[in-house]
Amino acid sequence: MSRERLDKILAGAGAGSRSDVKKLIRAGRVTVNGEPALRPEIKADPAVDEIVADGRRIAPEGERWFMLHKPAGVVSAVRDAKEKTVLDLIAPGDRRGLFPVGRLDKDTTGLLLLTDDGALAHRLLSPRRHVDKIYLVRCREEIPPETAGRFLEGLDIGDEKKTLPAVLEDIQGNTCRVTLREGRYHQVKRMFAAVGNEVTGLHRLAMGGLFLDEDLKPGTARRLTPEELAQLRQAAGPRDDADGPEEAAEFETEESTEADVEE
Ligand code: URA
Repeated sequence: MSRERLDKILAGAGAGSRSDVKKLIRAGRVTVNGEPALRPEIKADPAVDEIVADGRRIAPEGERWFMLHKPAGVVSAVRDAKEKTVLDLIAPGDRRGLFPVGRLDKDTTGLLLLTDDGALAHRLLSPRRHVDKIYLVRCREEIPPETAGRFLEGLDIGDEKKTLPAVLEDIQGNTCRVTLREGRYHQVKRMFAAVGNEVTGLHRLAMGGLFLDEDLKPGTARRLTPEELAQLRQAAGPRDDADGPEEAAEFETEESTEADVEE
């Protein structure tokens, strides 16, 4: 990104409207590389300069990350002709360039990450990386204890390959917790269908070691902290050319057929 006016950068990063951020700057609440920046027309580059507004680092484009508590009834897409999407739940000033990191079904709730960082998103979703996802599951029927063994062995859910070992624990009647190391289309629902049960409620608790913030109400989102982002980077592992192309565009539409972005 090239150098731009400070007020434009801050407004684009969701710090407020253009006139709000001008007031913020003139009030001395913004620093660039540690120095107070008091004029909105000062030029800076968020990819190079450390811009801080009210103590919060302004993430450069391509490195913005949000945690959403997805409610039921919205689709995991950037746009949709008929349905409300997860992007509609992000403040308009923050939406530019964001896409969901994989998908949750319309009726699934819980942790969904949104970002404009195609490279890291791609690594988190790569079927080669085995990034953990933890779900709370409610089923129509009681879950017999032997289901845990079947999940661990891997199940034939109608794909070319059996599922990877999945950990099913904390069984209480018809609820349990499941940890997957892959993200196939409708995977949890298809795994329970394969053992003769039916998922009636699904909530994602965690992805890549990052847990849904319990204070985040359904339908609300917040930025990831630097520590949370570091956790995700660690879970995704280093860049590796064998991961293939890393364009954000491949995540952008609901029509994408990439098996690894459909969960
Ligand atoms: N597995 C499913 O079946 N649905 C989801 O939304 C996520 C995982």
